[in-house]
Amino acid sequence: MSGESTRAGDRRHRRVRVIPKGPVMVEGPVDIERPDGSTMHCDRFQVAICACGCSGTPPLCDATHRRLPGPSPDRPTQKDPQKE
Ligand code: FES
Repeated sequence: MSGESTRAGDRRHRRVRVIPKGPVMVEGPVDIERPDGSTMHCDRFQVAICACGCSGTPPLCDATHRRLPGPSPDRPTQKDPQKE
């Protein structure tokens, strides 16, 4: 094996990070299967997938979640636990 990854069948271990009240961050490149069965390929090293359902560019996050009512952990007003 050359170590090169291919789009289909790439079994490399990937990290997925869930942002509370925000997107799901997935290490790329990645193929995203939409509900209608079509596929979107993203070559970015990290892809933000909308988990709030309000993105104007689904399935990707467009940061609309930041404007939603209620507290959000990725806003600068959140307490920093290391400062306590
Ligand atoms: S999670 Fe960011 S717009 Fe939905």
